[in-house]
Amino acid sequence: MSEVRDRPIGVFDSGIGGLTVLRALRRALPGEAFLYLGDTARVPYGTKSPATVTRYALEAADEFSARGIKALVVACNTASSLAQTALVDLARFPVFGVVEAGARAAVAATRVNRVGVIGTRSTVDSGAYVRTLEALSPGIEVHARACPLLVPLAEEGWEETDVARQVCEHYLADLGAARVDTLILGCTHYPLLERAIAAAMGPEVRLVDSAEETAREVARAMRVERLGRRLPPSAPIRFLVTDAPTTFVRVGTRLLGEPIADVESIELEHRLDLTDGELRARVS
Ligand code: DGL
Repeated sequence: MSEVRDRPIGVFDSGIGGLTVLRALRRALPGEAFLYLGDTARVPYGTKSPATVTRYALEAADEFSARGIKALVVACNTASSLAQTALVDLARFPVFGVVEAGARAAVAATRVNRVGVIGTRSTVDSGAYVRTLEALSPGIEVHARACPLLVPLAEEGWEETDVARQVCEHYLADLGAARVDTLILGCTHYPLLERAIAAAMGPEVRLVDSAEETAREVARAMRVERLGRRLPPSAPIRFLVTDAPTTFVRVGTRLLGEPIADVESIELEHRLDLTDGELRARVS
């Protein structure tokens, strides 16, 4: 058991956005080592089909298995929405997804049983948040909205601009009209735009940050399963990327809030030889 406990926690994302989740995990679990994998060669996932995202996620899980981790956090909301079932079936370690954690927090927060969800096009089209919310709270009213322009705005560092505020107002008008009292930020990048989103929704609407909720759940599980570790705080993090690391380091440092070093370039393409039939059978 002690051997498993000594392994890092894996964090998987389509690119750099998952660093917001890693940042929350670092705060909740300061004594843990982390291995982050950003599939920067194949980002964005948010426009891709369930079969493609599932294949990418399974290839990443295979890489994590080979390197040895004690748990996997699927930071990418799109991967968590489309590939969670396939990952849980395949992985030999516990898999934590942001969708479950965010949905649970929203159900606890809403007073009027009306919740909004925003995410990438693929996350919203998958219906994963809606299904999870309805399973947790039958009768809940869910309003979902894809907000594809928010990812590039966050990556450009434009969170505090008028453009960001206008784009949020445009996207969120329907959710405001539907009078939701809770809004799930169902994408890795949205916590960075929290101010613009809050301004568009108004002060009565609670924003649920899936990153914070997931970090809390992982910390709780580590305690319960006695898998926790006590390294000196801020132990170095190892990063794996599938494309040249320059942009990852430049933009990522801002998202993570600490310097990024120790970045290794890896290849995930064709790591698993799943036929189309096998892949379809695994798509949730
Ligand atoms: N990480 C993705 C998510 O949270 C956003 C970026 C992408 O489309 O890959 O859904």
